[in-house]
This record gives sequence, structure tokens and C-alpha cells, in this order.
Amino acid sequence: MGKWDDCIDGTPLHPESLMMSYGYKPEWSEGALKSPIFQTSTFVFRTAEEGKEFFEIALGKREPGPNGMGLIYSRLNNPDLEIAEDRLALWDRTEDCALFDSGMAAITTAMLAFLRPGDVLLAAEPIYGGTHHFMEWMLPQFGIEVVRFRSSDSAKDIEARLAGATGSLGFVMLETPANPTNALFDIEMIAGVAARHSTDDRKVPVAVDNTFLGPVFSHPTEHGADIVLYSATKYIGGHSDLIAGAALGANEWLEPIRTFRTLLGNHATPWTGWLLMRSLETLPIRMERQQQTAGKVADYLAEHPKVLKVNYLGHLQPGDHQHDLYERQCLGPGAMISFEVEGGEPGAFRLLNALHLVHLAVSLGSTESLAEHPYSMTHSEATPEENEAAGVTAGLVRLSVGMEHPDDLVLDLSQALDKI
Ligand SMILES: Cc1ncc(COP(=O)(O)O)c(C=O)c1O
Repeated sequence: MGKWDDCIDGTPLHPESLMMSYGYKPEWSEGALKSPIFQTSTFVFRTAEEGKEFFEIALGKREPGPNGMGLIYSRLNNPDLEIAEDRLALWDRTEDCALFDSGMAAITTAMLAFLRPGDVLLAAEPIYGGTHHFMEWMLPQFGIEVVRFRSSDSAKDIEARLAGATGSLGFVMLETPANPTNALFDIEMIAGVAARHSTDDRKVPVAVDNTFLGPVFSHPTEHGADIVLYSATKYIGGHSDLIAGAALGANEWLEPIRTFRTLLGNHATPWTGWLLMRSLETLPIRMERQQQTAGKVADYLAEHPKVLKVNYLGHLQPGDHQHDLYERQCLGPGAMISFEVEGGEPGAFRLLNALHLVHLAVSLGSTESLAEHPYSMTHSEATPEENEAAGVTAGLVRLSVGMEHPDDLVLDLSQALDKI
């Protein structure tokens, strides 16, 4: 038996079986099958001595007991967050998890927890526009230099770029597959670069934004990443009804992140934690179904005369380095597609404006299919030159495939492509 009933006769249960119960006991809450929403700002201590002990644990002055840190105040911890965190960590096979009020809160907090003035941040491109903006416009104001690299760069190329920077490497940020092109980055190779720049006193963390494949189709820590980051707004939430983020990894990496979260106050609320628990129960069912449908949609798009290019992991061919990375790092192609249409931005806009079933909206990973224009929307933080060089062209449309019937999605795309 583990901390919770996660085994039967010594045989560990799968995350699918644990999502409905792990971390919660009905006897705590009048027998309620589902965890209630602990909508409370603070928690009552049984005694002053207990309050003192909880604070000592929270401040690292005392080792936590078998039940971890006691409940103090909802900016530090709350049952709905703790249960959702324990469950998400099961999917990602990591020791620890911290939930945030948005994906950007998770990403920026992780960076702030480890970067110091004078450091260099090594980051992949393309990358989600919000992450790009924070790195390129905000971090330099705190004395942090950003060095970018592409999926085609070798370790030698990356070292050459780092050699041109003045400070020492403090953090590595990858998004793989990258939003919106599905470009894959070699986590093991980048972890090697980070290790070469680490010292006994300071290990350089490698963080991977795994939003596109989620914990069902990729486990970055098994390939050398230290921290996994998510916009949990996307597949993990999965229903377009919440904004949340997550950071996962070993305790040594999560502890500084959690401390920053406590002081920045950007933790997820109990209600969001509760909604995430609801979502985690169906995570693989949703993601597998969406992936299946995306395969059919991508095949259709690839054959269409007005579609110039389809970026879809399921279409990678043996012999392509990206295919090798896919085989090594991914457990499935997921349900994100981007495709370039004839006619540049006007062509892409005509298509987007003609869609009926697919909604014209940013965000992704939801039950509804969503389409958008990265060049002028999610990735408009980057310059046109940066976008073009990274494959984010004016004719590119990003499509997040939802739970609709594949034939209906093809029907909708077909009539919209006719309008280009
Ligand atoms: C890959 C990726 N990372 C991070 C984010 C930011 O997440 P949030 O909107 O939950 O702050 C997004 C949002 O679209 C994203 O697509």
C-alpha cells in the first residue's frame, strides 16, 4: 500500500484507475464520493503547537511528517489543489506538482525561481507568444539575456550561440512539440548542453512546455528534462472552461517554484483544482479520441490542392531527423495540426471566416475544435521575420482537433477551403 490505496495486493494500479480516488477519502467529508470544493481562505489549527509546527514545516525549519505539510492558508495549499496535483503527478510520473492560475503563471514562476540578473536564458523557437513576450521584453529588464535556437541546431551550434553571450547559463526553456509548427526538439541533447554549463553549486534546469502532447503522449522527464510545464487550460482542463497551469518534476526543482508561487500568490483556486480533478478522469479518453480524429483530418488536408503544407507529427517519415525524435520522445502524434493554405494571410482569413463547426478562437486541447491564425494572433509577439524563419507563415492556420465526428470536421474544412 502506498500513501493512498494505489496498489491491490502489491500490484500498482494505473493512473486511469486512480484518477477517481487518489488522494481523497470519502470519510473526510461526510462520505461524499467526490471531494467537495474547499472554498476557504484559511484552516483552523487544533492547537497553537500544531500551528507552530505547520509553519516550521512550511518554512523548511522542520521535516514534514508522513502527511506532508499541514493545511495553513489557501495561498500555501488547499485540499482541492493538493489532490489535483497528486493526480496530475501520477500521469506525468513525477515526484511533485504545483498548480497555477494559468500556464503563463507556471512558466514565468519557474523562470523567476531559477534565473538571476546576469544570467542567460536559452530558449527554443518558435514558442508560444506569451512566453516569447516575457522572455524577450520583460526578462531583459531584469538583466537576463535570452539566446534562442531552432530544432535544426546541433549541440555545437547552440554552444556557439551561448559563447556569444556574456553571462552564464541559468535556465533552458523548450516547447516540444512547438506551438504552432509541431517542431520537435531533442530534449536529451539539450540536457547535455545544460549539464555542461552546470556546476556542483548550480545545476541548470531544463524545462519543457509539454502542452501540445500532454502527459498522455509525452513524458519529458524520462528524456532528460527537469521541469515539465503546462498550460492546463488546454488538454488537461480540456473543456474550454478554465485557465490553469502546472509545473512538475522532482522535489528539488519544485520546492523553489512552490516558494515563489506562495509569494507571488499565483496558485490555482480551489474551484479550478476541483474542475481539473473532473477533467483528469477523462484525460486519456479525450486525448486518444482527439488524436484518432486528427489523423483523419490531417490525411484529408495533406491531399487538398489548396493546402501547401501540413505540420502533423503523424505524417513524419523515417529518414527525417524529426521522425527519429518523434520515435524517441513521443507516444503519439496528438491532435494539433497546422497547415499552410494558398493565398497567404487573405487565403487563411477566407478559410477561417468560412468555418461553421470549427470555432475561430485561440486556445487548444478542448472538446471543441478551434482554429486560429498564429501569424496575426497567438504568435504576433514575434516579428514577421522571426515568424517566417520559424515556419510561422502568413498562410498558416492552426487547428486543434476536438471531439466532433471526423466526417463533420472534414465536411466543414472542405467547404471552407472552397472559399479560399
Ligand atoms: C504551448 C503553450 N504554452 C503556454 C500557454 C499559456 O497558457 P495560459 O493561456 O494557460 O496562460 C499557451 C497558451 O496558449 C500555450 O499554447
